[in-house]
Amino acid sequence: MRVLVSGGAGYIGSHTVIRLADAGHDVVVVDDFSNAKPTVVGRLEALTGRPVTVHSFDLTDVDKTEHLFSHEPIDAVIHFAGFKAVGESVTKPLDYYQNNLDSTFSLLRAMGRHDVRTLVFSSSATVYGAEPSLPMTEDLPTSATNPYGWTKVMIEQILTDVAASDDRWRIAALRYFNPVGAHASGDIGEDPSGIPNNLMPFVAQVAVGRREKLSVFGDDYDTPDGTGVRDYIHVDDLAAGHVAALDRISHADDPMSIWNLGTGQGVSVLQVIQAFERASGRPIPYEIAPRRPGDIAASYADPTKANTELGWRATKTIDDMCADTWRWQSKNPNGYPDA
Ligand code: UFG
Repeated sequence: MRVLVSGGAGYIGSHTVIRLADAGHDVVVVDDFSNAKPTVVGRLEALTGRPVTVHSFDLTDVDKTEHLFSHEPIDAVIHFAGFKAVGESVTKPLDYYQNNLDSTFSLLRAMGRHDVRTLVFSSSATVYGAEPSLPMTEDLPTSATNPYGWTKVMIEQILTDVAASDDRWRIAALRYFNPVGAHASGDIGEDPSGIPNNLMPFVAQVAVGRREKLSVFGDDYDTPDGTGVRDYIHVDDLAAGHVAALDRISHADDPMSIWNLGTGQGVSVLQVIQAFERASGRPIPYEIAPRRPGDIAASYADPTKANTELGWRATKTIDDMCADTWRWQSKNPNGYPDA
């Protein structure tokens, strides 16, 4: 297939481009580079051994999106593009709702007009809300605790309604748990701008000497060691899950499908620190800090539905995830170069 990857220069998008190419698909990337560096493209071309077609614009631009679909033959879309910082979404709710919803509307309208009706959407375990029962299964009710999370809940609802309106649609929403790690080459990885919001890139920057110490947000949760528990999934396993989902919806009859992509294993903040120390051979200084507002104690998937229906399962351990993050961070201490 010829697959349009929105946000294909970003962290999860770039790893998925490699997996798509490995599976024999042709890839077209659309990215506005608001949260990605253009230098990732050359690395993708080197790793895949083929040119990557890139369109550089913001998908909320309806005319440019229409122009893209008029000029590129496209069979399916994987839609990663979107704003994703939880804290920022609280201070800039309108930016989050407008950007994440408008880009999706623009894409869906162009897809409908050009009869491209196969779509895989980046959703999140955040749709399970503030007090989920564990492990999380796809049939739990959805809600959110911040505007970013609500955009995921809303877009899932929009996709469900679009799929119900016309049975030619084949749509999947993939609910990611906590993607971490990097490509085995160490040439593609997560490169957050500014101070990292998420645990693994922060730990990696402490290990490489860019930051002095980690703040552990709370050690009094109702978890085995008191720190937050998450289901960390290697980004390359996650990327493989997209290829499996695309394959499945292209051949199945359901207009709308939802799958959790996680390992099913909960790992605490202190366990991540210990695993990273093992992987890097460097100490990770940390201090216990107050809880971060909006955080839940524990989050982990029941991945059974994806395991059985997609024939996919996460293969990599937390030690693999830390080793690959460290390879990326130590080869690229300041992330991707500007040019
Ligand atoms: N944490 C720290 N210190 C830090 C950063 C994080 O102790 O500097 C802790 C958090 O409190 C939490 C764990 O590390 O217990 C993981 O935090 P992340 O920020 O890495 O991940 P979250 O689970 O909070 O958020 C992720 C995604 C969101 C998504 C959410 C729910 O980043 O996009 O999962 O699916 F909404």
